[in-house]
Amino acid sequence: MKLLITGGAGFIGSNFIHYWTHNHPNDEILNIDSLTYAGNITNLASIKTNKYKFTQVDICDTEEINKIFKDFKPDNVVHFAAETHVDRSLDKPDVFIQTNIFGTYNLLEASLKNNIKRFHHISTDEVFGSLDLDTADKFDEQTSYKPNSPYSASKASSDHLVRSYAESYGLPISITNCSNNFGPYQHPEKFLPRIITNLIDNKNIPLYGDGQNVRDWLYVEDHCRAIESVLLNKSTIGQTYCVGGNYEDISNLDIAKMVLDIFNLDDNKIEFVKDRPGHDIKYAVNWTKINQDLGWKPKYDTYQWLEKTTQWYIENESWWRPLKTEAEQFYAKNNQ
Ligand code: NAD
Ligand code: DAU
Repeated sequence: MKLLITGGAGFIGSNFIHYWTHNHPNDEILNIDSLTYAGNITNLASIKTNKYKFTQVDICDTEEINKIFKDFKPDNVVHFAAETHVDRSLDKPDVFIQTNIFGTYNLLEASLKNNIKRFHHISTDEVFGSLDLDTADKFDEQTSYKPNSPYSASKASSDHLVRSYAESYGLPISITNCSNNFGPYQHPEKFLPRIITNLIDNKNIPLYGDGQNVRDWLYVEDHCRAIESVLLNKSTIGQTYCVGGNYEDISNLDIAKMVLDIFNLDDNKIEFVKDRPGHDIKYAVNWTKINQDLGWKPKYDTYQWLEKTTQWYIENESWWRPLKTEAEQFYAKNNQ
């Protein structure tokens, strides 16, 4: 297989490249990434195989993207590249519209011209909006789209574009809508790395609102296995799969208490701060379809892998320390 990976220097993309080079050592990978503040090429420094290459390029640059497709001749595209941080999308939505919508369009056009065998689009459960806190309902492949932030609206638009290229032009596509990932190499502006690195620095855990918001946490390697199961199964072309990790609801307050427990600290480290505007109250994902069709299910237990993730941040301070100052400046500006 010749895989063109977009956004492979980010959190999930770099975990995916580690996973793929380890499990499919004969496949060729070209990682294209513009290295925004969220991209970090050192995430991939330990990959030594000459089957893996990196090129710095913006997915919105049509000419460069056409050249990449012509020169590398990928058979599969796995599209991770995006602006991904909800809080930043509330602050400055324009770059989200550009990268997540126009960038995806650019890649779809190039994929069509170059007879790609599969365009796999990485999307999010946030496109479905929010569930009520007390409902047992979960998002699934039939749930209608109702995005609430510029980030989720731009991701919803990209999903629609991807589907339209299958319907209108016959492009072989697949989409996964995944819940909140956690694990190594996640930027310290996101919730879990932020609270772990705050505790390492002996600071408080800032919880938005009353901390009752529920997210569906998935260890990043489980997400990588889900993408692998979709890519390697030829019958899945044109399909969408919802991917999630939890069996029971876990609130942000619950997660904060689990991390405090790992650090042997008590709850007085929790500080309730100003809420995020339009903050979705609950995400929960029904992953029955990917389980029944492809046999995938989450393998990693949340508490145990939170411990391992915490340990990773403790051992890799040199990775996150340079990113932390700027992340905290962003939050300070917004009183969060
Ligand atoms: P991330 O922000 O860590 O990484 C995004 C990567 O894309 C970075 O390396 C960045 O440099 C690159 N990028 C951004 N704009 C680009 C451009 N114009 N051209 C080329 N590269 C560009 O994001 P992540 O958390 O790894 O998310 C990856 C994908 O998974 C995204 O599409 C996101 O919407 C989706 N997703 C994320 C989660 C999650 O919990 N993190 C959950 C579900 C879906
Ligand atoms: O659901 C999948 C999505 O998960 C992805 O599509 C996004 O790219 C990813 O960023 C993530 O979005 P969230 O908004 O859910 O993630 P975030 O890490 O920003 O916040 C998780 C929850 O924690 C959310 O309810 C807001 C809350 N939070 C966040 C921060 C940074 C806090 O309470 N305090 C904080 O300091």
